[in-house]
Amino acid sequence: MKKQCILVTGGAGFIGSHTCIALHEAGYKVIIVDNFSNSHRDVLSRLNQILNTDIIFYEGDVRDQIFLAKIFKNHAIHAVIHFAGFKAVGESVKKPLDYYDNNILSMICLLRVMKEARVYILIFSSSATVYGDPKWLPIKEDSERYTTSPYGRSKLFIEHLLEDLYHAEPHWNIALLRYFNPVGAHDSGLIGELPNDVPNNLMPFVQQVAKGLQPYLSVFGNDYDTRDGTGIRDYIHVMDLAEGHVSALNYYQTNHGLLTVNLGTGQGTSVLDLVNTFEKINNCKVQYKIVERRSGDIAACWADVSFAERALAWRAKRDLAKMCEDAWRWECARTSLRV
Ligand code: NAD
Ligand code: UD1
Repeated sequence: MKKQCILVTGGAGFIGSHTCIALHEAGYKVIIVDNFSNSHRDVLSRLNQILNTDIIFYEGDVRDQIFLAKIFKNHAIHAVIHFAGFKAVGESVKKPLDYYDNNILSMICLLRVMKEARVYILIFSSSATVYGDPKWLPIKEDSERYTTSPYGRSKLFIEHLLEDLYHAEPHWNIALLRYFNPVGAHDSGLIGELPNDVPNNLMPFVQQVAKGLQPYLSVFGNDYDTRDGTGIRDYIHVMDLAEGHVSALNYYQTNHGLLTVNLGTGQGTSVLDLVNTFEKINNCKVQYKIVERRSGDIAACWADVSFAERALAWRAKRDLAKMCEDAWRWECARTSLRV
């Protein structure tokens, strides 16, 4: 049988590159579009090395409709997974125009080109950030949505846009996947997260402390109403997240409509749980100091994953130890790969 072609925007990035592996392994043909605004070109050769094939790649901006339309003309695209966008909360507060421009315009341009090409299956990267500071835990998909940053608002706006589109044109098949906290790396050690500058997120910072690139981890507050006082999150291995995208695509082989799904593990992990597991599994030391809370942080956030299990027949398989092990392997490999 001919393989179905999946267009992956932002496929050279952290989650996109891992998803390309899962797609390839599931028998889909992958086409990547990326402008390398937050990734490195050599990810592609390492992806090819992992998959032992040459992935089709187009360099360009998703906001360029003429460029995009050519890709849809060249290939019989079955569905699109849209990762391309900016994602740093702090940066979005400083550069709101760049964030609204890139995130919202790229979505609109992509939808226009998909419509023209009559491609109606879209998987969109949303985020648990749309739940703001949740009133109830674990968080269900129908929880109240509000956001506090331009980044979060760009995600929430796109969710509304896609819901409006679906209601006006119900032949669309749209999955809004709300990711919790993706961490870890592919276990080849050839691809992983590449933070620009000093990382803001916990796991990449812990990796850098263990490597000696940062003197210590600042633990942002130990006076939250949580079991050890530090913030609790739902960390999910990036390969589990990647496989969640394959499940969403598979869902549309037999189903139709708008689907909103949490992709997490359903487990809450504190900052100190993560540090302790990282040290134990990797036999290394992560120095830390307790400091003030980070402004804008919430105490705790983890997913209710029962709907994902029911709708997608998907469940995260990799535990925190595996996330820490793979993250560390990638951090160590980066030196020899010079990335
Ligand atoms: P990433 O920055 O590693 O990947 C995004 C990729 O998109 C990069 O390769 C970048 O070069 C590319 N890109 C950006 N704008 C583009 C454009 N206009 N045209 C073409 N390419 C463009 O980010 P990621 O961590 O892989 O996240 C992927 C998606 O998932 C993003 O939309 C992000 O908002 C969302 N998300 C990420 C997280 C997370 O913690 N990583 C959590 C929730 C949601
Ligand atoms: C951040 C974003 C969120 C985004 C998510 C995944 C903010 C306010 N929120 O969330 O919108 O969806 O990343 O990309 O930026 N921590 C430390 N020290 C550090 C770093 C983090 O103690 O150096 C703590 C935080 O206080 C938090 C936990 O570790 O309790 C996780 O932090 P982080 O990885 O930044 O993720 P989120 O806060 O969930």
